[in-house]
Amino acid sequence: MAGKTVLITGGTGGIGKAAAIGLASMGARVGITGRDQARAERAATDIEAESGNPAVDVFVADLSSQAEVRRMAGEVLAAYPRLDVLVNNVGGFWAHRHTTVDGLEHTFALNHLAPFLLTSLLLERLTDSAPARVVTVSSGAQSMGKIDFDDLMGEQDYSGQRAYNQSKLANVMFTYELARRLEGTGVTATALHPGMTNTAFSAEDPSRSMAPIVFAARPFMKSPKKGAGTAVYLASSPKVEGVTGRYFANRKTKKSHDASYDAMTTGRLWQVSADLVGIPGDPTPIRTRASF
Ligand SMILES: NC(=O)c1ccc[n+]([C@@H]2O[C@H](COP(=O)([O-])OP(=O)(O)OC[C@H]3O[C@@H](n4cnc5c(N)ncnc54)[C@H](OP(=O)(O)O)[C@@H]3O)[C@@H](O)[C@H]2O)c1
Repeated sequence: MAGKTVLITGGTGGIGKAAAIGLASMGARVGITGRDQARAERAATDIEAESGNPAVDVFVADLSSQAEVRRMAGEVLAAYPRLDVLVNNVGGFWAHRHTTVDGLEHTFALNHLAPFLLTSLLLERLTDSAPARVVTVSSGAQSMGKIDFDDLMGEQDYSGQRAYNQSKLANVMFTYELARRLEGTGVTATALHPGMTNTAFSAEDPSRSMAPIVFAARPFMKSPKKGAGTAVYLASSPKVEGVTGRYFANRKTKKSHDASYDAMTTGRLWQVSADLVGIPGDPTPIRTRASF
């Protein structure tokens, strides 16, 4: 990975930080993101120490806010003349419905719309840097997901688990649609399930409703390093050079939810997402379109 630049969202802890250590250890320049400058800088210091690579950069943004995603994307474009890999890793779970500064349901906004918008804003830089890769951290929960186009934001009926499952299925559908749109550009798009991993996942949910499950499952969970294994593999391995539009678990391709293979649905989700973040969603392949 020497000479390559990787951006990992949510690199201050958990799977993202472990992935950053893995990729920095291979020689990549790694940009991590987090909401708090001091916490992100502490994480960068750890990543530099553990990897022995001083080329770690920090970008600060709350990705639940579209304005923040846009500002941070601008900073990334200013800092990185090339971008070889984008790892969309940030995600969370909330038992109770609440909305972002944009008035959108938090789970859908952070887990799906943020990577959708960030990837869109960085896409030209990625295509200019081809061969390049977009790796999105989904979850096995995608297999239980349903995209409820009539109530995407859970306004009529909200369940934290349903919202999470939907957002993780959206990660896979986004990946497949992105792969189709990127055909011929040399940029690949893959999604993955990291496996149950011992991190701070769901710790910010005020109800702590996942806490008993997490407590019971902790002895069987992967370490963050192991949980980051598939993301690091997809970001770096020559074995997956050119592999696109696939979902992985344990470094192997895996079948995803039947609905994720329906191009009508993935196209519809793309258009709805584009409308929600205010970018053009036209079906023209990305390589033939002027940047926005
Ligand atoms: N852990 C598991 O068992 C598991 C299983 C399946 C899938 N996953 C998926 O793996 C991904 C990573 O999860 P994890 O377990 O590593 O979670 P985590 O330990 O909670 O880490 C989350 C990361 O995201 C950042 N973050 C959270 N909210 C943010 C926001 N609003 N804006 C910007 N950054 C934000 C955090 O940074 P700051 O707090 O510094 O801002 C932190 O670096 C998620 O997409 C999750 O759905 C996890």
